[in-house]
This record gives sequence, structure tokens and C-alpha cells, in this order.
Amino acid sequence: MNKRILTGITTTGTPHIGNYLGAIRPALQLAEEYNESFFFLADYHAIIKNSNKNEIQDSVKSVAQAWLASGLDPDTSNFYRQSDVPEILELSWILNCVTAKGLMNRSHAYKAATTANNTDEDKGISMGLFSYPVLMAADILMFNATHVPVGPDQIQHLEMTRDIAGRFNHIYKNTFTLPEAISQKPDQIILGQDGRKMSKSYGNIIPLLSTEKVIKKSIAKIVTNSLEPGEPKDYKNCTVFSLYKHFSSSDEQEALKSEYADGISWGDAKNKLFNKVNIHLAPIRDKYFELESNKEMIDELLFNGANKVRPLAQDLLNHIKNSIGISKIS
Ligand code: TRP
Repeated sequence: MNKRILTGITTTGTPHIGNYLGAIRPALQLAEEYNESFFFLADYHAIIKNSNKNEIQDSVKSVAQAWLASGLDPDTSNFYRQSDVPEILELSWILNCVTAKGLMNRSHAYKAATTANNTDEDKGISMGLFSYPVLMAADILMFNATHVPVGPDQIQHLEMTRDIAGRFNHIYKNTFTLPEAISQKPDQIILGQDGRKMSKSYGNIIPLLSTEKVIKKSIAKIVTNSLEPGEPKDYKNCTVFSLYKHFSSSDEQEALKSEYADGISWGDAKNKLFNKVNIHLAPIRDKYFELESNKEMIDELLFNGANKVRPLAQDLLNHIKNSIGISKIS
């Protein structure tokens, strides 16, 4: 079977090391194992939560730069901007028409937003937020992706995609492949400074693309317990150690474990983490800033990426439109 991975990155904010370790790096590793890979910037998803024009544009640019700097090869992978493939929006509407409203009511993201509201449960909830999973289904089904790498919070959306695809296949004829989610295990979740999942909304991030000084400072802010130097420390349930694991070999991890047992100070442990992070990120940072001065190149690259995939989208969309009766009458 032709294995095709596809994943979308919502363009809000600047990528942090949680995005890098949790999404960018694993997706690029998967791209080497699969026959075909599709990576795209989900800018129509971004406008659901953000109405600031400049922030949306800046984020598209910095997210594209981060993926390219991390090693995405636009010749062997398909790399495009969602909004450059308008067929996705056409498909999204068609899928809306076979999607049960009740299915969308059950979406965690929507339910979380309504429970956060007190008296008026629909306050601040747009149709975009409500039908977010349908657009995501369109992203995936437009290219009949077989495997979709996503964070654990997105698994429900993949189940919804399968439901929607199944419904369409049942009403019309078999059209869509049912995609599978590929997700990290909960113990692989990237922790932020306060020990919770690293996330911009928690304000606990370590940046991916900052100066050494800023990265050092944000590592220094990682919360630890108050054990003194010389007192043995537990590497389990330790945010410093859990981040260190992502940047080191198993021998290096064993060595740090025994230093913990010997009572390494938190300052020294954080320095070790910083050195690893810094060596790893230096080439990515250099490449990122090199791309910074070449915005036209990124625009062109994304546009070419969209032109490469659009014929596939157009073929499938034509086929779908024929199946549903939106076609020539003669
Ligand atoms: N919703 C995803 C997120 O916030 C981003 C996304 C949009 C996506 N479309 C997608 C992921 C399609 C995978 C496939 O992380």
C-alpha cells in the first residue's frame, strides 16, 4: 500500500521547543519512512482563534522557516499553505453537509469552550470553532492521507475524520481512505518550565529560535524541588531530566542518572541541559536566521508546493462533485 503521511501546523505564534520535539522532529523522521509526505501551514485554522492580521502573517513566516531550518526538504516532501489550495475549502463545505451536528457537539475543543462559559454557553464561539474538525477532515481527506501524525489532543479529530469519511463513503460511493492517527505516548509529552505540557497558553515555553542567553534564562526558570547540592535527587518526575532525554543518547542519560544519585546541584543539572539544547539548536537557529532575509524565497517555495499538490486535489474534487451531482447538466 502507498503510505502517505500528512500533518498540518496551525500558524499561531512562533514555534517553541515543545513544537519542535513533539511535532516537527518526529514528523520529519516519519517522512523518511513513508512513500509520500504532506506538510502544510494551516492558516485557515489560525484565523479561528486570532483576528490579528500581522500575527497571522508573522506566524506563517516563522513556522515555515522553523520547518525548513529543522530539515524539511521541499523537493522530497510536499510543503504548502492551506489557503493556497482552495479545493480544501470546497471539500470542507461538502463534508459539512454529511457531518452530523451531534458529532461536532462532542468535540473536546468545543466542549471545553462551552464549559468555560457560565450563563451563555455559546459566548465567543464562532461557527469556525464549532466546525473546526470538518476543515481538518477536509485537509486530510483531500489527499487521501493514510497516516496523520498528531498530538494526543488531536486524536479525537482523527476519529471524527474517519466518521465523516465513512459517512460520505456510505452515502455516495467509496471515495475516501480512512486515515490513522500516529501519536506520541503520554510519557513522551514535552514538559514546560512548570512541569505541565509545554504550551504557549500556559506561558511555560522554552523558545526554539532565540539567542543563547534567552534559552539559558528559560532553562534556569525550570521549577525543581529545593534539595541542596550533595543531596541525592530523583530523575523520575524531574522536568530537567525529562527534557534532557530528548537531546541525549542513552549512555548520556545513564551518566546523568548517576550524577543525580550523587547529588548534582540543580544549577549544574540545568547547565548540562542547556549545553545539550544549545548544541542541538545552533544549526537550526543559524539556518532560521539565514532564511529570515529571504522572504520571497519562502513565498515562492510555498506557492510551488501548492501548485505541485493542487492537481491531485482537483482530480479528487472533480470526482467527488460528480458523485454528488454538482457537475455539468449536459
Ligand atoms: N488541528 C491541528 C492542531 O492544532 C492542526 C491541523 C489542521 C492538522 N489540519 C490538520 C493536523 C490536518 C493534522 C492534519 O494541531
